[in-house]
Amino acid sequence: MEIVHTVENTRKILGQVSAEDKSIGFVPTMGALHEGHLDLMRRAKEENDYLVVSIFVNPIQFNNSEDLEKYPRTLESDIEKLESVSCDLVFNPSEEEMYPEPVTVKYNFGKLDLVMEGKHRPGHFHGVAVVVKKLFDIIQPDRAYFGQKDYQQLKVVEALVNKESLPVDVVACPTVREDDGLAMSSRNERLDEEERELAPVLYQSLKEVKDLAYKESVPEIKKWFEKQLEGYNDIQPEYFEIADAISCMPVDEMQKGKKYVACVAAHIGNVRLIDNIIINL
Ligand code: PAJ
Repeated sequence: MEIVHTVENTRKILGQVSAEDKSIGFVPTMGALHEGHLDLMRRAKEENDYLVVSIFVNPIQFNNSEDLEKYPRTLESDIEKLESVSCDLVFNPSEEEMYPEPVTVKYNFGKLDLVMEGKHRPGHFHGVAVVVKKLFDIIQPDRAYFGQKDYQQLKVVEALVNKESLPVDVVACPTVREDDGLAMSSRNERLDEEERELAPVLYQSLKEVKDLAYKESVPEIKKWFEKQLEGYNDIQPEYFEIADAISCMPVDEMQKGKKYVACVAAHIGNVRLIDNIIINL
């Protein structure tokens, strides 16, 4: 496995790989790798000749400096995990390498940027789009793998690829969960023992929402969800929405035959967690 820190060397190595007509599968990450990430990588390795993973904690997608500061950085154990999935190249640039010049580009994702994560983390998706576009330019993958755990991010990346006509297939991968249902996340490491025990409530509630969707209206379900979380003093919900699964726009009513996604963001202690569940009505 090659561990590369510069754009120039990455381009050199990958130019050679492409010249040999090998397909490149790419998984962008911010490190602190867990089974959710590794699942994407195993699939990318299976579907391509050559696997590239990037590890870069992208400062411009954090709208909270404490969150950026506390983001776990575990490069040594990450490298061991990458060896275990037979990763071929890890791209691990410095901030200066990724952003030698101030960012001037401006992406406009319209309403997608104004709801749910976009509304509560201003600038977040712009920062994601900037780094993903740069990574695609450097790596030029045939396929790039993203988790449904970050559902709205997946939609932003799909919109970016369409908008910029990028020659890459975006592959959506299901959310990987702990045995108790908690969606795997690098941020879970920051939960203390009690908070960790509480955290599966989010997914348990989402599963109940999915059952309720067949018989209750959206406002009733929202009321139910709010009440459900009110019972837990240590969980502070930030938003709960049921959105159209294609546009990500929150809805007030659902129609049979359509696909929706119920999305939640909540703070447990000082850790912000998100999760979602697909509802096929
Ligand atoms: P990160 O949070 O490290 O996630 C990297 C990829 O792993 C994302 O596509 C994310 O959706 C996926 N992922 C995380 N947890 C998962 C889980 N439990 N099951 C399935 N997939 C999961 O998302 C980012 O980094 C960044 O925003 C990035 C795209 C790298 C841009 O900086």
